Amino acid sequence: MNLTIVSASTRIGRQSHRVALGLKNYFAQFSHVNLTIADLADYPIPLFEEVAQRHPNPQPSVIELGKILHQSDAFLFVTPEYNGSYTPALKNMVDTYNKTEFARKAIGIVTVTTGGLGGMRAAMQMQQLIPALFAIAAPHMLLVPHMTQKFDEEGNLIDEHYLKNLDHFAKEFLWLAEAVYEKKQKEHLHTN
Ligand SMILES: Cc1cc2nc3c(=O)[nH]c(=O)nc-3n(C[C@H](O)[C@H](O)[C@H](O)COP(=O)(O)O)c2cc1C
Repeated sequence: MNLTIVSASTRIGRQSHRVALGLKNYFAQFSHVNLTIADLADYPIPLFEEVAQRHPNPQPSVIELGKILHQSDAFLFVTPEYNGSYTPALKNMVDTYNKTEFARKAIGIVTVTTGGLGGMRAAMQMQQLIPALFAIAAPHMLLVPHMTQKFDEEGNLIDEHYLKNLDHFAKEFLWLAEAVYEKKQKEHLHTN
């Protein structure tokens, strides 16, 4: 199963990318999961002009990211909370591609803040965004308050107590993501 971790902060001096790296480190223990990080800072997407598949002249970075999304079976969307929502880079990204890159795929919601609340408002906004993509939001979300006390810049876990949150989130997310993936594998076998 191809799992792509979308790191949705493009801010200069950003802090929340450490959580995307931390999840990459954590999910590496699952040998059946092929991990990719789609760091939106690495794939500049112009402020929405047209859906990539209809755009007369899509940028190479848009085409490249589109291939990663297309090959993904499931996603983790990792975003800081900005003014009560997810980042504009994340919205711009999902609007730029067809729903087909996300539809019928499981998406895990991960929100991140430096403060104590962990981004619940952004998480709730993503619970509305994901069905709009015809994707399936995992009910158990990961909220990461005080992120700089939990992960270092390389994504190493520095708060051992937080491991139980990761374990629980991963168990619930993988249960859904694998079920959806297996269903699609079966359908693929029947149609080929
Ligand atoms: C534009 C902006 C809006 C923010 N809004 C919120 C917010 O609504 N709730 C919150 O808990 N923190 C908020 N913060 C604080 C962020 O949690 C903190 O700055 C975090 O480091 C942002 O992630 P980043 O470093 O990857 O940009 C905001 C930060 C910025 C830059």
